[in-house]
Amino acid sequence: MSKKPVIVFEGIEGSGKSHHISNVSKHLDKKKIDYIKIREPGGSINSEKIRKLLLNKNSNFNNNTDLLLMLASRSENINLIKKNFRKKIILIDRFTDSTIAYQHYGMGIDIKLINTINNFLLKKIKIDFTFLNIVNKKNLFLRLKQRKSLNRYDKFDMRFYNKVQKGFLKLAFKKKSYKIINSNLNIKVNENLIIDQINKLIK
Ligand code: TMP
Repeated sequence: MSKKPVIVFEGIEGSGKSHHISNVSKHLDKKKIDYIKIREPGGSINSEKIRKLLLNKNSNFNNNTDLLLMLASRSENINLIKKNFRKKIILIDRFTDSTIAYQHYGMGIDIKLINTINNFLLKKIKIDFTFLNIVNKKNLFLRLKQRKSLNRYDKFDMRFYNKVQKGFLKLAFKKKSYKIINSNLNIKVNENLIIDQINKLIK
């Protein structure tokens, strides 16, 4: 594996992925290792504009429009990723598997269509490793309740999040380069698990 891997953090709302990606950033900062960190939807200037539109509480796009906007946001990120691919470590808060989990397993959109557009956008870009953060219903509910403000994607019902998480797990079981992080367990233990894996990936 390249010493400059592409590492993705996936998981449903409240699964702790954003906490862990920022913990990994701090670890790399401390070690003075170069990396870029992006999120999806969002990441680059134009993608952040699309993110605002997508997640705004007052937006009411249909599922196909959501898919196309998610992919439009990815399209605006790809140059940034290409520019840094194999030159710097790339950390991504959600990527292609989120589209499959939310728009296919959650919303029922054709997986072939999603894969075709993802492949068209990514071309030679490869994901080297994915951390999938999972959360149980009780903690998901509590963590969403604690949020100061909820965006459009924080407001689905529990059945939807359950379908999405099951979808993520299906994807994880198909691949070797996936580590499942159980966010219902001790956060420090999980931080150490992730940092150990990161150190192995960039050694
Ligand atoms: P965030 O709050 O983790 O930044 O993510 C915003 C929401 O966008 C989250 O609920 C998942 C959703 N999403 C999709 O539905 N499809 C995608 O392809 C991506 C990247 C995110």
